[in-house]
Amino acid sequence: MESKGNIIVTGGAGFIGSHTVVELIEEGYNPIIIDDFRNSEKFILDRLQEITGVKIIAYNFDCANQEKLQEVFEKHKPSGVIHFAADKAVGESVANPLKYYQNNLGSLVVILDTCIKNNVTNFVFSSSCTVYVEPEETPVKETTAMGYTASPYGYTKQVCERICQDTAYANPELKITLLRYFNPIGAHSSGLIGELPIGVPNNLVPYITQTAVGLREELTVHGNDYDTTDGTCIRDYIHVVDLANAHVKAIEAAKNSKEAVVIYNVGTGVGSTVLDVIQAFEKVNNLKLNYKIGPRREGDAVTVYANNEKVVSGLGWKPKFSLEDAMQHAWNWQQKLK
Ligand code: WQD
Repeated sequence: MESKGNIIVTGGAGFIGSHTVVELIEEGYNPIIIDDFRNSEKFILDRLQEITGVKIIAYNFDCANQEKLQEVFEKHKPSGVIHFAADKAVGESVANPLKYYQNNLGSLVVILDTCIKNNVTNFVFSSSCTVYVEPEETPVKETTAMGYTASPYGYTKQVCERICQDTAYANPELKITLLRYFNPIGAHSSGLIGELPIGVPNNLVPYITQTAVGLREELTVHGNDYDTTDGTCIRDYIHVVDLANAHVKAIEAAKNSKEAVVIYNVGTGVGSTVLDVIQAFEKVNNLKLNYKIGPRREGDAVTVYANNEKVVSGLGWKPKFSLEDAMQHAWNWQQKLK
C-alpha cells in the first residue's frame, strides 16, 4: 500500500510515542522515530517491529540537536511531526526546574524552527490536562481556564502551548494541534509495549501493577477524605491505544484545518475514583491488591475529567477501550516485563 507519508515522532520509543507509532503504521503512515532513550529502552524498537512487521527507522539523538534534526528532515521529507519528547516527572521538575525548562522548551523551539525551515506544516504537540491544575469546572472544557501550576513540568506545558500559538500565528501555513491528555494508562494488548516508569512510579496504575507483581510491598491510596463518591480523587483514565489513535486522527485532520491552532482535551469523558481503578484491576484480573489508605498527596486536584465533545466531533475519534480493558492490558504487560 502507498505510504500516506513520513511522520517524525520525537520520543517515539516512549510510552505514548511507541503506541502512536503502531497506530500510525496501521493507518498507512511511515513513522520516523527520534529518541535519545533517556526515558525509554532500545528493546522497544524490536517490540515495535514484532507488533507491526515493519522495521521502523529510528534515530538515537536529542531532538534539540538542530543539525542532526535538519539532516533527518532533509533525508525523509516528513509531511508531519508529532512531538512527544519531553521530561514529565512532576516531582523531579520541582527539584530540577532548569532541566525541564532547558529540555521541554528548548526542544520545542528547535523542532518548530526546523519545521518552518523545511516547510513541514502539520505539527501535533503532546500537552496535558495538567495545564488546568485544579479546574474551576468539571468536566473540563478546552475553554476552561488554565490554573497556576506549582510544578515546573506543568508550567512548561503551559509555556509550550503559548510557544506553539505564537509560532503558528507568525507562520500562517503552520497548522498546530495541541492534545491535552488526561491520564494515560494501559498497554498494547500484545503485552509487548507499555509503560516503563523509571524508579518508583509516581502514577497510580504502574504502582498498582508493580504491587500486584511483587515489586512493591503495598499501594498507598493518597487520601480518602475528599468530597467524592468514595472519598478518593477522580481522574479521567484513558487507554494509551485510544490516546495514540487520537494522534493519528489529529495528523489526518490538520490538512483540512482552517485554524492555526486547535486544542483538544483527549479523555474518555468519564471520571473514575482511585478505588474504582483498584476495584477494576482486582475484578478483571481476578486478584486481591495489597493497599492501604494513607494521607493526601500534596498538590492533588480532587476531580479532573474531560468534556471530550470537541475531540469526538472535531476528529471523529472516540475511545474504544474500557477501564477494565486497560487494567487487563496493564497487568498483561507487567507480567511479561523482564
Ligand atoms: C492519580 C490519582 C493520586 C499514586 C499525573 C501527572 C500529570 C499527567 C497525568 C502528564 C491521584 C492517586 C497515585 C499512588 C494514589 N501526566 N495515587 N497512590 O497526578 O492525576 O497526573 O499524570 O502530563 O502531569 O501529574 O496522576 O497517577 O499520579 O495520580 O493514590 O501511589 O491516583 O493521589 O488521586 P495525576 P497519578
